[in-house]
Amino acid sequence: MGELTLYTLNDVAQRNGRDGADTWIVIHDMVYDVTKYKEEHPGGPELIDENAGRDATSSFDDFGHSSEAKQILKGFLVGELIEEDKRANRKKKMANGGAKINRRSLLRRLCGSCAS
Ligand code: HEM
Repeated sequence: MGELTLYTLNDVAQRNGRDGADTWIVIHDMVYDVTKYKEEHPGGPELIDENAGRDATSSFDDFGHSSEAKQILKGFLVGELIEEDKRANRKKKMANGGAKINRRSLLRRLCGSCAS
């Protein structure tokens, strides 16, 4: 199998289906161009539009799509997220970043201008 093209979440966000843009979605760290599939979706194009340009993993899994649906999805694969933007790493990043912000704002609250 050949190497997959790598994309960032920001790349995907540009393809949000609006103003003539294509419709890309991320499911389990894989990037799919579903522009052409949208209108054929048994669940309607709206549900896909709602997730356009974003990670649709939870939405896709929560419905409990059939293996046929997963097979269809494979046909629209265009790439993979860069390591840093993958789901597991995003969670880690949020945990660290959150702690940093909290510590600083706490410091600021405790001693005002000395924290800046
Ligand atoms: C973009 C990739 C997607 C593909 C290829 C896909 C494919 C399918 C397929 C083949 C079905 C028929 C039932 C089945 O085989 O499971 C279906 C139904 C459905 N899908 Fe998706 N789906 C996608 C995305 C989504 C998303 C993001 C959502 C939710 C936000 C969603 C919600 C639904 C719902 C609610 C139905 C049921 C429609 C009905 O029976 O009235 N789908 N989808």
